[in-house]
Amino acid sequence: MKILDGKKTSQEIQKEIALEVEQIKNNGGKVPHLAAILVGNNGASMTYVNNKVTACERVGFNSTLVTLPEDTSQEELLTEIQKLNQNPDIDGFIVQLPLPKHINEQKVLLAIDPDKDVDGFHPTNFGRMALELEAFIPATPFGILELLKRHNISTEGKNVVVIGRSDIAGRPMSILLSQKNWNATVTLTHSRTKNLSEYTQKADIVIVALGKPLFLKADMVKNDVVIIDVGITRVEDAKSSKGYRIAGDVDFEDVKDKASYITPVPGGVGPMTIAMLMKNTLLARKRKR
Ligand code: GUN
Repeated sequence: MKILDGKKTSQEIQKEIALEVEQIKNNGGKVPHLAAILVGNNGASMTYVNNKVTACERVGFNSTLVTLPEDTSQEELLTEIQKLNQNPDIDGFIVQLPLPKHINEQKVLLAIDPDKDVDGFHPTNFGRMALELEAFIPATPFGILELLKRHNISTEGKNVVVIGRSDIAGRPMSILLSQKNWNATVTLTHSRTKNLSEYTQKADIVIVALGKPLFLKADMVKNDVVIIDVGITRVEDAKSSKGYRIAGDVDFEDVKDKASYITPVPGGVGPMTIAMLMKNTLLARKRKR
C-alpha cells in the first residue's frame, strides 16, 4: 500500500505557484488577490477559511477576508458580493459554504461574477466544465485529478466508482473523469443506490465523498484498489485537546492492506483543495490580462 500524500503534493504545487508569483512581481505585474466571505461562526468553516488565507500568504498572493455575523441578511450578503464583483483589485473570491439556513445558497452563488468564481460553483463555470470549455474547476475534484496525475495513476479505461453526488465534489468528479482527458468508465452512486458493494467491488478506483465517517470497509473493495477519501467530518474525541478529531469516509485501518494507493485523512484530499484554489486564483489573474 502506498500513501497518496496530499499534504506534500499540495506543498509542491504551492511552491510552483509562489515561483510564478515571484516572476509576475519581477516583471512589474500585479500579484493575484483572493477574497473570501465567511458568514457566521461555524468552527469548521472558520478553520477552512483561515487555511485559505494562510495559503495566500505562503504563495505571495494578497488576500481579503470579509467576515459577516450569523444574522446577516441575504440582501446584505448580496451587497458584499456585488462590491467584490466590482472591485478591480480582486481577481477571485469565494463564499464559504455552508451558509446560515435563512440564506438561499443558489441565489448567492448565482450573484458571483463567473470570471471571479474561483470555486467554480456558478452555473456558467459548471456548464463550461461539463462541455470541456475553459472554466474554473471546483477545487476538490481538481485536486483529486492533480493528485492522481502527479502519482502517475492512470484513469484510462478504468472502472471508477464515485460515492456521493454533491454539487461540489461527487458530481463534478464524475463528469470530469468521463471526459476525454481522463477516459474513465464512471459510475456515480449515492444514498439511494441499491447494493452499493456490487459496484464498489468491481472498481479500480473508488472516490468516497459522502461525509459519513468510516463508511468504506474492506469487504466493499477488491485487491489493489485505489481509494480516494474526500470525507472530513469532525467527530467527538475526549482524548484530543480540541475535543474532536477529523474522520474520513474510509475505514483506513480496515481497507489499507487491500489498497494499492490510498489517501489519508487528514493530509490527503483536504490540502489539495487549498492548492487548487490558489491555482484557480492565479488562473483568474492571468485570464484577466
Ligand atoms: N465548503 C466546503 N468546501 C468548500 C469549498 O471548496 N468552497 C467553499 N466556498 N465552501 C466550501
